[in-house]
Amino acid sequence: MARHLITSALPYINGIKHLGNMVGSMLPADVYARYLRQRGHEVLYICATDEHGTPAELAAKDAGLPVDTFCSEQHLAQKAIYDGFSLCFDYFGRSSSEQNRELTQHFARKLNENGFIEERAIRQVFSIADDRFLPDRYIVGTCPHCGYDKARGDQCENCTRVLDPTDLIDARSAISGSSELEVRETKHLFLLQSKLQGEVEQWINANGDQWPTLASSIARKWLTEGLQDRSITRDLEWGVPVPADVWPELAAEGKVFYVWFDAPIEYIGATKEWADQEPGARDWKSWWYEAEDVRYTEFMAKDNVPFHSVMFPATQIGTREPWKRVDFLKAFNWLTYYGGKFSTSQQRGIFTDAALELLPADYWRYFLMANAPESDDTSFTWELFSSSVNKDLADTLGNFVNRVLSFSRKRFGDEVPAGAAAGEAEVRLGEQIAELLAEYEGHMEALQFRKAAAALRALWSAGNSYLEEKAPWLEIKTDKEAAALTLRTAMNLIHLYAVVSEPFIPASAKAMRGAFALAEDTKTWVSPEEARALDTVAAGTAFTVPPVLFAKITEDDLESYRERFGGGDSGQ
Ligand code: 2FM
Ligand code: ZN
Repeated sequence: MARHLITSALPYINGIKHLGNMVGSMLPADVYARYLRQRGHEVLYICATDEHGTPAELAAKDAGLPVDTFCSEQHLAQKAIYDGFSLCFDYFGRSSSEQNRELTQHFARKLNENGFIEERAIRQVFSIADDRFLPDRYIVGTCPHCGYDKARGDQCENCTRVLDPTDLIDARSAISGSSELEVRETKHLFLLQSKLQGEVEQWINANGDQWPTLASSIARKWLTEGLQDRSITRDLEWGVPVPADVWPELAAEGKVFYVWFDAPIEYIGATKEWADQEPGARDWKSWWYEAEDVRYTEFMAKDNVPFHSVMFPATQIGTREPWKRVDFLKAFNWLTYYGGKFSTSQQRGIFTDAALELLPADYWRYFLMANAPESDDTSFTWELFSSSVNKDLADTLGNFVNRVLSFSRKRFGDEVPAGAAAGEAEVRLGEQIAELLAEYEGHMEALQFRKAAAALRALWSAGNSYLEEKAPWLEIKTDKEAAALTLRTAMNLIHLYAVVSEPFIPASAKAMRGAFALAEDTKTWVSPEEARALDTVAAGTAFTVPPVLFAKITEDDLESYRERFGGGDSGQ
């Protein structure tokens, strides 16, 4: 069995993330990691905060804190929210760690030894008012490609094109707003990606076809445009310093590596942080170096694809060392808020902290994954959210669980009733369940989350149809044994739902599983074949009725959410 390494794009430290960030990286990675673990695979799920670069410096400045203090605080704040969402990272690290510093410097050294780094004098924007160079986000202006007027110096948020600060039209300083800028010469390190184009292309030709089209098409577009040499250092206070033994002059000037150079290396860095917590017992290198038995899956939103499909692989290849490269790159489109952008800078949309204050994590987890922006963007609306929660979670799953358990307790007491032997309806149900479960597994293996959620929903619905068909509340009047069989079968469905729904709704799954006092409930998965029999929970097993699993979202709730977050009108 392969070992599975999973990473989700590292959330920037500059503020609490919104639901769009969550659905495009950490949440699907968590669902997949949980599924694989349940299937018995060895899984390492790594994530971290991305702490360097201008966004961190600017956010710390806004908060009036030294950047290291700001990052420590924000790291903990983000971590608490991800715990709240039940994200099961094996480790949640920090790109500002010592481990990442060492690895980043190591990568740079190796790339340099192999002739893939060059020192070049470049002309850079200098702000007279601020008395400093303005890298990346320190400079804003109009995008030369799409005309967006708030494009940043490193990337246009609107058209996702990677930019150089000097590309911007009507450029101004993001610190002072001053447009009194001049271009001065300064030295920087360049990663000679042009020299690696052929090897990256070869690698993508061999692997990229297995990725979703969204990912492979972005990678190919970049290759077709031709890989450009890119500057990988910056004039910033905060970052991984350029090693003085190799580049004394640049080190003396205080240059640090560009955040996009050290961030992906932190996938490895965080694995080392994880291993360093239990020296001797954990081996970071076996996951990353000569790791032929590892299957590596990355999760990210589409704007991150160029960095992960082309630039980071180029960096890895250029070391001439056997670093593990991504096997499957799962990319997502955007989650929009009523068709418009979620925006951290403009605080539009729903942020992860506010979401958790409103409703339990499982509501969000299910909604987001069932509507994941896989083949297209998804527009979040409160109406879609509440109909998903009310129909699927409350009516279909929650109501089934409660109805079956409450009714059985009322009529048969606190143990699963025995009743008649399975009949034709149960055989039919078993077959249907086995088929749907196999379908569900297939979609999970293929990382098709919307389809997987639909198959899960179909499993829940099958229970409802069975219950309606058998109508134990009528059976009980004429044939107690028949009613008992129906309820026992339905309770077995509840147990099955608890097991297979866990990747999506772990807390509710736990509550469902906990309803049954099974002596030995160590089953982590149920195969379609086993599921067919619907007999894991034997007659005589004690059970309790859990509190209502999912409360319905009412019209009044909706009204207050719309009012608080804005709905429709705040989209564009
Ligand atoms: O786009 C972002 O939010 C980046 N912080 C993602 C970094 S992913 C990785 F390469 F570190
Ligand atoms: Zn643009």
